[in-house]
Amino acid sequence: MNTSPPSPRASEGFRDSEGFPTERDSEGLLTELRQKIRHHNYRYYVLNDPVVSDHEYDQLYAELLEIEKQHPETITPDSPTQRAGAPPAEGFQKVEHPAPILSLSNAFDVDGLRAWLERIAKLDERVREADFTAEPKLDGLTVVLHYENGLFVRGATRGNGQVGEDITQNLRTIHAIPLRIPTTPQGPPSPERLVVRGEAFIRLPDFEELNRRLEESGQKTYVNPRNTAAGALRQLDSSLTAQRPLTLLVYQIVAGTDDLPATQAETLAYLQSYGFPVPENIHCQTLEDVIAVCEDWAERRDQLDYEIDGVVIKINDHALADTLGVVGKDPRGAIAYKFPAQVVTTTLHEIGVNVGRTGVLTPYAVLEPVEIGGVTVSQATLHNFDFIAEKDIRVGDRVRVKRAGDVIPYVMGPVDAARTGAEQPFTPPGTCPVCGQPAEHIAGEVPWYCVNAACPAQLIRNLEHFVSRGAMDVVGMGIKIVEQLVREGLVGDVGDLYALVRGDLLELDGFAAKKADNLLGALDASRERSLARLVTALGIRGVGEAVAADLARFYPNLDALRRATLDDLQEIEGIGPNIAQAIVDWFTRPANQRVLSKLRAAGVWPQAETHAPGRTLPRPLAGLTFVVTGTLTSSTRNEAKALLQSHGAKVTGSVSGNTDYLLVGENPGSKLQKAQGLGIPVINEDDLQKML
Ligand code: IVH
Repeated sequence: MNTSPPSPRASEGFRDSEGFPTERDSEGLLTELRQKIRHHNYRYYVLNDPVVSDHEYDQLYAELLEIEKQHPETITPDSPTQRAGAPPAEGFQKVEHPAPILSLSNAFDVDGLRAWLERIAKLDERVREADFTAEPKLDGLTVVLHYENGLFVRGATRGNGQVGEDITQNLRTIHAIPLRIPTTPQGPPSPERLVVRGEAFIRLPDFEELNRRLEESGQKTYVNPRNTAAGALRQLDSSLTAQRPLTLLVYQIVAGTDDLPATQAETLAYLQSYGFPVPENIHCQTLEDVIAVCEDWAERRDQLDYEIDGVVIKINDHALADTLGVVGKDPRGAIAYKFPAQVVTTTLHEIGVNVGRTGVLTPYAVLEPVEIGGVTVSQATLHNFDFIAEKDIRVGDRVRVKRAGDVIPYVMGPVDAARTGAEQPFTPPGTCPVCGQPAEHIAGEVPWYCVNAACPAQLIRNLEHFVSRGAMDVVGMGIKIVEQLVREGLVGDVGDLYALVRGDLLELDGFAAKKADNLLGALDASRERSLARLVTALGIRGVGEAVAADLARFYPNLDALRRATLDDLQEIEGIGPNIAQAIVDWFTRPANQRVLSKLRAAGVWPQAETHAPGRTLPRPLAGLTFVVTGTLTSSTRNEAKALLQSHGAKVTGSVSGNTDYLLVGENPGSKLQKAQGLGIPVINEDDLQKML
């Protein structure tokens, strides 16, 4: 580690006897605090590589907030506290862009790219020798950011390309946007004026997390990241924007007073040196190299954690690109290579209703099978019943369906023009489609619930989760067997799994002696699973693998965890009031107490190996940064990650100079070579066990 975490109280010396800064030193303290917070913001939001825990960060932030509350006159517009959101605005002011905010023409295949090069080579032969940069075409919204003497003073939407809307207050809430450049004292001195352009968007994991939280609190979920980002940017109340996990990447200088870089590759490096996050970019010597990059990105598209709809190819030399001029609003020196659409139209045959683990009823579309980006899609989510009503989706409609990344395909809406009149409006069921009990609606919440604790659908989901790979890992027990067990009445809760005998299984369809013995063997083996896995398996709301791993380090067994109070639980870092409440509630329910008795009687009662007495976690890996690569044998990558984190380590996605160890499994990829090149120690799972 080349950066040691600063102590949150490092500034103590500047304080008077009451803990407040003395008049003389308060300015220095404020500058120091703000610089530290800015630095941590940059590590977290731009480099994705934080060096302090959230808790330490929160302490620094609270300290700054307190001082500013006492001395409001010291608040500066670039103070990190000024991102929280301002009171609602009446409407947006107009902002004239210093240069036109241009768009791009498109190529839809490789021939289109070759034709582009031929077209522009006719205008200037030098193009045949030109080099290019390739960047992902981010599926977000253009924003224009103005800096004066290093200070972020204004931010605008694209608008009509000449004039945009002033959304400064909203943009201030995006942590990836520096409020002052350079972000670090080591950066180059800021130009008097710099106007840059970038794309604001929401990363897919952040989008899913946002929807998960909304769903848990019974609120309406969002349909897709782009619309959510667009809506958030155009909020008149910026405190609402602040609640959306927007981020941004910057790729263009619109105007500036400095000597501006001559090439696109240098432009990105220049922007990066000021602390702007920039997109991944690849320097290509020839168009054939560009084509290879486009094909590679098209293949990797689903593995990225943000949506892209193509690749932007730019002639690297700005002067050459400029001489080619502009057609309409599209510069000739750049082009967008668009990937095949991820949206298709198909027929909605039926609307089905799923019952989730917590009883939430979720509608889904049964579709005429259709191929989207190489995958055949025959079902897609319809989010919730309000969505169907709002979009007026009817059975028999032609609907637009989108599939992006690993996100479940979803219906975007009907194609109104394709209506024949035979389409049937949909009425939400008044009862649970599985158990037939009345569905209930909690006031103020969006979802409908089946509140019947004995509903077989919920039981099936619970069992499926309990035996899954990240939980008790009962090898060979898939959804089909779970359904059979429930249907035949052999299992009424997860505790019953361990009471199954050979004769029970032999009665099931498709079971012969060998299959039955294998399954019983797998169930037997699962008795040895760790406490962390068992806690994950119980399916308590908000308790995933990472939280379960932390709980298992505080509480040696389920008895101890059952006795934990709300206050006890909240003392654990990362456990807030909602999760604590969910844990306490889970243990209070009589049905769950019966499950616990059965598990105990069956010997499924693991003791945590590394129980930490008292409230402090031993964190032997604190301060170390790990990267995990390859296929691990004793756990999944996520489990390894949770294990590392629960021992205090930080886990990042890519190898860099800040990586302390690379944990490798089988078939590691390029990360291994990179680590070896940087001289970073490479360890396997056994080595890790020894370290712990
Ligand atoms: S360059 C003259 N680079 O795509 C420069 N645009 O279809 C034109 N976009 O309006 C833009 N990622 O909002 C550029 N790496 C990238 C981009 C990008 C996404 C968007 C941008 C633009 C649209 C054009």
